[in-house]
Amino acid sequence: EPFPTFPDGFLWGVASAAYQVEGAVDEDGRGRSVWDTFCAEPGRVLDGATGAVAADHYHRYREDVALLRDLGVGAYRFSIAWPRVVPAGSGAVNPAGLDFYDRLVDELCAAGIAPAATLFHWDTPQALEDAGGWLSRGTAQRFGEYAAVVGERLGDRVRMWMPLNEPVVVTMFGYALGHHAPGRALGFQALPAAHHQLLGHGLAVQALRAAGCTGIGIASNHGPVWPASGSEDDESAAETYSALVNWLFADPVLRGEYPAPELTALIPGPVAADLATIAQPLDWFGVNYYRPTRVGAAGGGGERDVEGAMLPPGLPFEPRRITEYPLTDFGWPIVPEGLAETVRMFRERYGDALPPLYITESGCSFHDPDPVDGRVPDQARIDYHDAHLRALHRAITEGADVRGYFAWAATDNFEWAAGYRERFGLVHVDYETQRRTPKDSYHWYRSIIQR
Ligand code: FCB
Repeated sequence: EPFPTFPDGFLWGVASAAYQVEGAVDEDGRGRSVWDTFCAEPGRVLDGATGAVAADHYHRYREDVALLRDLGVGAYRFSIAWPRVVPAGSGAVNPAGLDFYDRLVDELCAAGIAPAATLFHWDTPQALEDAGGWLSRGTAQRFGEYAAVVGERLGDRVRMWMPLNEPVVVTMFGYALGHHAPGRALGFQALPAAHHQLLGHGLAVQALRAAGCTGIGIASNHGPVWPASGSEDDESAAETYSALVNWLFADPVLRGEYPAPELTALIPGPVAADLATIAQPLDWFGVNYYRPTRVGAAGGGGERDVEGAMLPPGLPFEPRRITEYPLTDFGWPIVPEGLAETVRMFRERYGDALPPLYITESGCSFHDPDPVDGRVPDQARIDYHDAHLRALHRAITEGADVRGYFAWAATDNFEWAAGYRERFGLVHVDYETQRRTPKDSYHWYRSIIQR
């Protein structure tokens, strides 16, 4: 089958995030973030890795933008490090931090690439975490203030804005299970962290609009939840799980309500008024898609998640392995059709209330060989993106309004608790020399974009 033709104006992009690529954590007045703290705690991150140097993007952004220009992408999704701009999370703004993003944005514009900025890709200023982090309502207010500062400085050039990246992962991994910074394992008591991120999103959208910014959306992680069997118990477990990981984060934004009223009992504050703030009209909605999950009713002894980590006791569902699909080297099932299914479930649930969609992330980790003669053969990564784009095209053919696709990631980078072993990039990074080598997937993506 020849590669399908996407609609005119379809946006081809790649993505990254500040802590995963920048390094330079102590430079130009950057404050500490929860990830600096988390990485310093023994046993938290594979091999004791940290983002202190990462892909050294802070110093090499010109080289990286040149690679993006040659790749031919229409947009580059990056994140702005809150602790560079407001080192203590509130109060004084750090001009040198803002200057970095000003230079990056100018460099992108000069290369003809639309800047797409995430305001929060998980690097909460440590000073705010010390005051409760996202469990505290104040963090949402501080986030709105920070958004105003960035919007005023970059709003004339940034074309797409995403206040949040994947609030579900911050809530679950950061506050409920503790696999990610800030490493809290609060179970359902983590729900306020979801609510305050969503409130922060709403306040940030208001602040960005007030600063004259346009093209405002979100980058939210979603995927199908498959019941382990057709039994009523398994189906209802899957529905509960999907409410928690999908609709808890999309319904407030797109409908101004929570999917399960019993959840709101765990959320402090004026929830109804907050929901009105959260449901700011968006210009588009961004879906990060990696994989479906399968869950069954609790009671089968599955007290570990699919990656083997302990789950808190007493959950009304349990994850089951998806075994009938090939896996990436990270162990994630490769299910291209799951992307189309995700798009379909959004169309079904929200109908006319759904703004245009972008796929703001999709990608895979393979443990690529080192470059030989300037080449990194990574056919498996090509196959991944090829198959996901074909599935996405089928969804578009069915009538879905999907406007673009951002491959995760531009370059190899720091993969959170998994450190540097996982490689998601279209460009290989040798972390000893910081040499960049475009992989075969980079050349393939370039040819797709050029068509
Ligand atoms: C997503 C994150 C991104 C990256 C990919 C692999 O959940 O948004 O930062 O780590 O997973």
